[in-house]
Amino acid sequence: MRDQPRVVLGVGGGIAAYKACELLRRLTESGHAVRVVPTAAALRFVGAPTWSALSGAPVATEVWDDVHEVPHVRIGQEADLVVVAPATADVLSRAATGRADDLLTNVLLTARCPVVFAPAMHTEMWEHPATRENVATLRRRGAVVIEPAEGRLTGADTGKGRLPDPAALFDVCRRVLARGAAPVPADLAGRHVVVSAGGTREPLDPVRYLGNHSSGKQGYALARTAAARGARVTLVAANTALPDPAGVRVVPVGSADELEKAVREAAADADAVVMAAAVADFRPAVRAGQKIKKREGHEPEPIALVRNPDILAGLAADRPQGQVVAGFAAETEDVLANGRAKLARKGCDLLVVNRVGEGLAFGTEENEAVIVEAGGAETPVPHGPKEALADRVWDVVARLLDAR
Ligand code: CTP
Repeated sequence: MRDQPRVVLGVGGGIAAYKACELLRRLTESGHAVRVVPTAAALRFVGAPTWSALSGAPVATEVWDDVHEVPHVRIGQEADLVVVAPATADVLSRAATGRADDLLTNVLLTARCPVVFAPAMHTEMWEHPATRENVATLRRRGAVVIEPAEGRLTGADTGKGRLPDPAALFDVCRRVLARGAAPVPADLAGRHVVVSAGGTREPLDPVRYLGNHSSGKQGYALARTAAARGARVTLVAANTALPDPAGVRVVPVGSADELEKAVREAAADADAVVMAAAVADFRPAVRAGQKIKKREGHEPEPIALVRNPDILAGLAADRPQGQVVAGFAAETEDVLANGRAKLARKGCDLLVVNRVGEGLAFGTEENEAVIVEAGGAETPVPHGPKEALADRVWDVVARLLDAR
């Protein structure tokens, strides 16, 4: 047990407590020793037997249980990570003001490990200045406070305030744990960044399209890492089948046309735009209103194509003062020379040049690239996880933004 990472799962009193059961399962099944510390209110939503059975550990809400073990000090001291999900407005408030009125708040005061809060509440409560200030205080002290997701809330209403999916929360926990005691680089705090991901589909008729193999993994890695570095992130996702990253606003799109509209809209107040999507250069000249039928005895009609706008070049040409615009260059030959020429042609600030082809880049977990800057600097990024490449891209973007 000693070498298992120790996670404290704090659970606040909100309906989303049921989703924390799934997060707990993911943590335990991947080899973490989890101690669940619900608030008294949380137990009104999900009872102690559920937490105890799923974690295989005792469950207490008050400092008066098992006093001989001094749990209010020990649990926090021994933790490698504390994650509070859902973090209600009340838990955030008590954490921000340093209250110690139940076991969870005692744990938060005694923990010296990374702390993640995943807030969930109604939109009005999330937007209230009191909650805004509490969140700002916790972030200033180094806690990771994930932005809630948008969507259906408890009643019939929708808005910002949903707990992100357990898979996305698990992903944040895993990354924060991997980072260990290393400080969170918050060099994108206060910045709005826009990332496009996936591959566009250009419709031929209501059921068919021309598309490409892009999975969106590199763009999602960029969105996740930017959020972890403190940015407000808009992810324009073209035909991806990946879970929404926690704390990221996701705008789903289909065609290049829709992608351009969504990216341009989000880019209006953005500090940086990174075009990681594989955008079709051409689209069918005609989009048939009805399904194209095969006609017996007739050869198939050739498909006439027209050019799509170069979205990246357009963004670079029209960018507001100080905005950093970045793109990707997928090349199969003369990789660097083609990349440099493409950077000049597109007029952007930097281009991530990578080799694509059979088994390379598309759909894989890893990538290898050279980041080429308009100023001439070139940063090779060795073969490694797409998140590592994403972090190197943000290093360059953050440096360029700071220099402006
Ligand atoms: N891109 C874009 N709009 C397009 C085509 C590409 O914004 N119509 C962007 C991509 O998102 C990527 C970059 O341009 O960031 C480079 O894409 P790539 O397909 O490598 O370049 P192309 O301009 O299509 O050049 P070529 O086909 O000559 O390789």
